[in-house]
Amino acid sequence: MHNTPALGIDIGGSGIKGALVDTAVGDFSTDRIRIPTPAKSTPKNIAEVVSDIVGSFAAELGDGPIGITIPAVVTHGITRSAANIDPSWVDAPAADVFSEHLGRSVMVVNDADAAGIAEVRFGAAAGEQGVVLVTTLGTGIGSALIYRGILVPNTELGHLEIDGKDAEKRAAASVKAAEKLSYARYIPRLQRYYETLEKLFSPDLFVVGGGVSKDSHKFLPQLKLRAPIVPATLRNRAGIIGAALLAAEEN
Ligand code: BGC
Repeated sequence: MHNTPALGIDIGGSGIKGALVDTAVGDFSTDRIRIPTPAKSTPKNIAEVVSDIVGSFAAELGDGPIGITIPAVVTHGITRSAANIDPSWVDAPAADVFSEHLGRSVMVVNDADAAGIAEVRFGAAAGEQGVVLVTTLGTGIGSALIYRGILVPNTELGHLEIDGKDAEKRAAASVKAAEKLSYARYIPRLQRYYETLEKLFSPDLFVVGGGVSKDSHKFLPQLKLRAPIVPATLRNRAGIIGAALLAAEEN
């Protein structure tokens, strides 16, 4: 069977990445393109890069669906927050801005929500029917809460206030790097974070993604939780794959 490909684009703090995705198998069907994120990451500047990426895949994509992730709350195509991107994204009509640049409709989704859907369908949480909490440890902390395969979007659990502080300011991977924390000093912060999540959500499974997931053997086995906590398996492909899956379903 030949599946129409969908294009996934993942907007991150340092790079904007895109690839065509075979939505039946949940993997790239082309190489990934990466363009550095413009220094001023405004909607207009980012939309120009997104247009270049779409242009590169235009022939193979045809009129196939396009899904775009963004590290912000997204409700009905409008971005509602901007923790680690240009403040002009707050209340920006993101889907309309992209659509106007591209001359076609797109779907916009929170980055962690896209990654979470990909991990539940094709990655570390495939087959898990209970409550899955996917977190991404990167510049910030992203979260995706999924129950029986259904996503509750925009949970933003990186911004839980724990011990009087915004959780991602203590436990994101970028904080480990900025404060030059050894794993011995970083693990207690992760323990505090995940035990709080467990108390509030009682997930059946935690999945941990983001750049640090490749070193997960250095910290995940140390965490003491009731639920299993496992590394993401789709790694930096999850956002692109999830965005493409969601866009294909919306069509
Ligand atoms: C943002 C989230 C995003 C996460 C990971 C947080 O700072 O508020 O929307 O999912 O970072 O990029």
